[in-house]
Amino acid sequence: MLTSDQNRNKARHVDVREASEHLVVSGHTLYINKSIGFDLTCIDKYLYSMRFSDETLHDIKCRFRRELENGLGRDTNTTATVKMLPTFVRSIPDGSEKGDFLALDLGGSNFRILRVKVTQDKKQPVQMESLVYETPEDIIHGSGTQLFDHVAECLGDFMEKQKIKDKKLPVGFTFSFPCAQTKLDEAVLVTWTKKFKVSGVEGMDVVKLLNKAIKKRGDYEADIMAVVNDTTGTMMTCGFDDQRCEVGIIIGTGTNACYMEELRHIDLVEGDEGRMCINTEWGAFGDDGSLEDLRTEFDREIDRGSLNPGKQLFEKMASGMFMGELVRLILVKMAKEGLLFEGRITPELLTKGKIETKHVSAIEKSKEGLTKCKEILTRLGVEPSQEDCVAVQHVCTIVSFRSANLIAATLGGILTRLKDNKGVARLRTTVGIDGSMYKMHPQYARRLHKTVRRLVPDSDVRFLLSESGSAKGAAMVTAVAYRNKMGLTPTKV
Ligand code: BGC
Repeated sequence: MLTSDQNRNKARHVDVREASEHLVVSGHTLYINKSIGFDLTCIDKYLYSMRFSDETLHDIKCRFRRELENGLGRDTNTTATVKMLPTFVRSIPDGSEKGDFLALDLGGSNFRILRVKVTQDKKQPVQMESLVYETPEDIIHGSGTQLFDHVAECLGDFMEKQKIKDKKLPVGFTFSFPCAQTKLDEAVLVTWTKKFKVSGVEGMDVVKLLNKAIKKRGDYEADIMAVVNDTTGTMMTCGFDDQRCEVGIIIGTGTNACYMEELRHIDLVEGDEGRMCINTEWGAFGDDGSLEDLRTEFDREIDRGSLNPGKQLFEKMASGMFMGELVRLILVKMAKEGLLFEGRITPELLTKGKIETKHVSAIEKSKEGLTKCKEILTRLGVEPSQEDCVAVQHVCTIVSFRSANLIAATLGGILTRLKDNKGVARLRTTVGIDGSMYKMHPQYARRLHKTVRRLVPDSDVRFLLSESGSAKGAAMVTAVAYRNKMGLTPTKV
């Protein structure tokens, strides 16, 4: 148990029109570090394959649009790589939600448990209290029984601390992995991703597994009413503040997006009226080889050393989990070729995980970035010169810029689909967004917004940062599900 926070239910918005890039000129020919006038063309050339022109980005956007269609189609769904999973969430919050809920949030950077109280109070409609629980390495690489026993134990501890062990509160479960759902309170895990590899859970309904673990304890009861992906939770959280929100994105340890699709286009779900949130699972884009021309030797090496080789290839190019490691692999190669550190290679530099994504963010800070870079490289024992630091900072820029560009292209695919679905000349929409990469990296958000604006010029996109996380959204979904279950005025979830 590490932190506790309350009432962080405000959302900050960033308008794409505010975006401007000041540090690096990202033309198609040259990057120049203006701060010290250092010519970095040789690095640009060296990492040429990681720098995408707008033409390539448009091409990726079109490829991704085809993936969306394949995932939705009856005949193409089984072989589609981008799974387009129906979520059974049919609308964003309408403000009528209320109640006292528990929310579990598993699969992001922390395992959190929250109590979410939703009232009709205008000033403070949502009150949240939360605790973060550690999920040790042996649990995320252990057995399903161990994992769900741990979750049930933490939930028991939380209820005890809240003095609600005698109550049977409705629970919303944010489970940030691909799940096949046929209803809100059933979620069959398709595959583990990111750092998780727990045996005996793939192909199983996680609600059943958790219920079993809770029952086995016998010291409290819980009513798990809804399982939502973190993208859906984010869209719902932001939808509470902005009714236009119809896309949810995560750029953190993993990456993914959901959006509201017309039911008539979702072949796998009955009905033609209205919309349903689709969890795209875009992290798997490229798993059928469709991004092979864009993957580099570094991407292949990352994949080979991962827990799930051949899977989540787009995620491995774009998400936070792999950013630091991509940079490290590039530095090792450049050092071996004598292009950095006068060829010095240390055991630290050769150690997997020694450069983390948070280091990439620190190195790219406009003011103290170079000083940070020197500190980080010195810790790796490579005795960097000033030129080395500038060069490494530039490598970081190319790697993180590539990520923002890739996400802009796939998001562009979703936005153009939304625009076509609505049949409008100009799309006005809001994208709810969360994740450590987006939030912590100093330049990432601006670059992403700017590229999206270029790729989808006929749109006004508002990016809404989800400050209170996806669990608030999970509570909204639970609120509506609970109201329907209790036979109160049925509303769409
Ligand atoms: C998972 C998604 C999740 C994303 C962000 C991916 O690895 O497959 O379900 O939304 O990470 O957490």
